[in-house]
This record gives sequence, structure tokens and C-alpha cells, in this order.
Amino acid sequence: MPNHKAAATAGATTDTTMAVRVVDLSKIYQQGTIEVTALQHVSLEVAAGEFTALVGPSGSGKTTLLNLIGALDVPTVGERWVGEESLNALSRAQLARLRLHKIGFVFQDYSLLPVLTAIENVEYVLQLQGIASQERRQRANAALLELGLDGCQHRLPTQLSGGQQQRVTIARAMVAEPVLVLADEPTANLDSDTGAALLATMLELNCRKGITFIFSTHDPMVMRHAKRVVRLQDGRIVEDKTS
Ligand SMILES: Nc1ncnc2c1ncn2[C@@H]1O[C@H](COP(=O)(O)OP(=O)(O)O)[C@@H](O)[C@H]1O
Ligand SMILES: [Mg+2]
Repeated sequence: MPNHKAAATAGATTDTTMAVRVVDLSKIYQQGTIEVTALQHVSLEVAAGEFTALVGPSGSGKTTLLNLIGALDVPTVGERWVGEESLNALSRAQLARLRLHKIGFVFQDYSLLPVLTAIENVEYVLQLQGIASQERRQRANAALLELGLDGCQHRLPTQLSGGQQQRVTIARAMVAEPVLVLADEPTANLDSDTGAALLATMLELNCRKGITFIFSTHDPMVMRHAKRVVRLQDGRIVEDKTS
């Protein structure tokens, strides 16, 4: 579905559907009496289907930007759109619905619920959406198979390797068929072979399903495979390169 509103406000230069657009975004954290500026005047447009890496040193604002795009946090100033939705205009309940239905999240610490099995962790998202149990189970199973996790369905997170756990989080991020996946250093806790395999899976999902990926990374191997690299430093975008 073309995004007429975003395209119109973006100007006549583009007819590409925007997945994400942020304009003049700043975030200042208050730490006691000290103000920490995490992002300063960041503007960024990511078209639907892009595979974009956010890179930059620790503390440069990557996580802050992902959290603001994913409606997990609010900016001090600035505007954000995910698809046609202007996040500043949405209520908390509407933001929760947007996160649940349109955005998949992958964090570096896997963030699986430890008491649930792999398939239950994936199903949980669909349960929140009110999907009936038979369909939940079938879709969660299909997502796990797609991520190469046959045989792992009924294991607890502690019974899975780091790479397998991270695949479960990607299955969980994908199961609701989001338009956008946000991943914060998804390969950070993986060895290089496992990280490469995970990246190949993300690339394949991006190509085959057209899902937009925005992910932060420190990993040079991951950066080499990104089609677009946006570099942050001291809370500002200092480079934006598409290969
Ligand atoms: N909740 C917070 N409270 C105070 N300062 C924060 C908070 N989160 C991040 N920061 C600060 O904001 C800056 C950017 O952090 P972050 O977005 O986590 O960077 P990165 O992900 O690139 O390492 C850093 O100086 C960090 O210390
Ligand atoms: Mg970070």
C-alpha cells in the first residue's frame, strides 16, 4: 500500500514508501542534576524494504534512536512516523498496538521469557493479539521452522545455545508479520560464525519478505553486509552511505 501521506510530506523528490521517518529528533536524559544529550537534531528516512545498519561508538545514541523509532521511549523534541502513523499523535494504548502489530524487536540479550519454551515465547506475541490457540501454535511452529529451529520447539531458553536463543527472538519478532524489525546489536553476544548465520537469515527475510530492518551493530562483518550504513557520533548522524 503506497504511503501517500508520508510521500507527500517528504516532498516531490520521492515516491518511495517510507517505513520510518524521524525529523529533528533530540533526546536529553536527566541524570540527577546532569543533563545527558543522547541524540541531537537527528533526521532520517528509511524506505520500506531497506536493510539499514546504525553504527558508531558506544554511547553515540544507537539504542536511543532505536527505542524512539520503536515507540519504547519519547523524544525530548522531534517527530516520528512509522509507516503513516505519526507517533507523537498516538495515545499510549495506540502505541502499544503499533508495537504489537507492526514492529518486531530483537535485543542483544535475547530477552526471552525464561519459564516459557521456545514455541511458547513465540506464541506469546500472538496471544497478546488475541489469536486463537490452534492458529497461534501453527504460526509459531512455522516461524521456528523458518529460522531452522526444528527440534527446539519445546526447549526452555537455558536449553538452547546463544545462537539458537537469538533465532527464537527473531522468530518471535517475525511471527506477527511486522512491517519493521528493529534489532539492537543482534549479533553482539554471538561468536562470529553464529553471528554470520544470523545475519544471513536476516538478509534473507529482508529480501524474500520485503521486511524493513534497522539494526545497530559494532560488528564489521555485519556492517559490510548492510545495504545502508548510518553512522552516529555524539548523538548526531555524521555519515549516511548506501552501497
Ligand atoms: N536511561 C538513560 N539515562 C541517562 N542517560 C542515558 C540513558 N540511556 C542512554 N543514556 C546516555 O545517552 C547516550 C547514548 O546512549 P545509547 O543510545 O545507549 O548509545 P549506544 O547505543 O550507541 O551505545 C550515552 O551517553 C548514554 O550514557
Ligand atoms: Mg546501545
